[in-house]
Formats: sequence, C-alpha cells, structure tokens
Amino acid sequence: MVLHGPNLNLLGLREPAVYGMQTLTDIDGALERLADELGIEVACRQSNHEGELIDWLHEARERFDGVVINPAGYTHTSVALRDAISAIGKPCIEVHLSNVHAREAFRHTSLTAGVCVGVVMGFGVDSYLLGLRALVSRLEKPSPAPAAVAKARQRRS
Ligand code: DQA
Repeated sequence: MVLHGPNLNLLGLREPAVYGMQTLTDIDGALERLADELGIEVACRQSNHEGELIDWLHEARERFDGVVINPAGYTHTSVALRDAISAIGKPCIEVHLSNVHAREAFRHTSLTAGVCVGVVMGFGVDSYLLGLRALVSRLEKPSPAPAAVAKARQRRS
C-alpha cells in the first residue's frame, strides 16, 4: 500500500520550487509502472485526514505486505499515526519528496521515522520509487532475528 498524506493532492500546483511539477497522478502512474516491473501490486491512496490514514494503515495490517508512506505534515506532529504504524506490525518505509533536513527546523523532527524500516527523502518522485524498491527488497530478505541484532549490538559496545 502507498499512502500520501495531507496536501499532496495539490502536487503540481503546490510550491513547485520545493515539490516539483509532477502531480499525484504522475507519481501514482510511476509507482504502478514500477510495480508491474517488480511483479507486485500497489494500491495508492491520498487523504487530508489523519483518521482516514490510520484506518488505511489498519487495513494494511490485514490485506497488504507493507506500506510506503509520505505522512506529509503529520510526520512532524502525529503521535497517532506513529502508533498506527507501530501497531500494524508490517514494514513501513517513510518517504518525502523534499529533503526535510534542508528546510525549516520544525521539519527536522519526524515522529513516524522511528517506527519505520527506513526513510528516503530529497529525491522527488524517485523517493517513492526507491522506497517501493526498498520495501520489496526488505520483504524478500527479512531482517535478522531480533536476538541476532541484540547480540551484534552487544559485541559492538
Ligand atoms: C513532505 C515534507 C513535509 O515537511 C511537508 O509537510 C509535506 C511534504 C515532502 O514530501 O517533502 O507536506 O512530506
């Protein structure tokens, strides 16, 4: 599942100097072409409402293998979205069109990144495409068992 957060329906019109000229339809088209190439299915959805995004994450728990999400403005504010990502137990990749660390200080904090597998940002539409590739690769090669990770950490400290 690919989720787009608030205001991303305005892509193409909204601050093109920051977000580029491509529309959400262009992005979803590029994701669908990549999905065909990778032999997977994607469902792309956008909402301006926090609760709707949370309902879709809950749906992903039952019906999808993983999630690519651009939480947009909710990245920096939403404990509820973070909790939903954490609750569903499916790998999530956070993506951003812009490099949020090169922007205002309030964008430097992500409440959601800590419960995602990883974050891709700053590459425009390619952030989504790289995020989808990363998700598929993660699903094909699951991460090491938590015990192995803990042991490796212990060895390093
Ligand atoms: C964004 C970055 C956010 O800070 C912002 O609120 C957005 C878009 C991005 O894709 O670059 O709406 O998530």
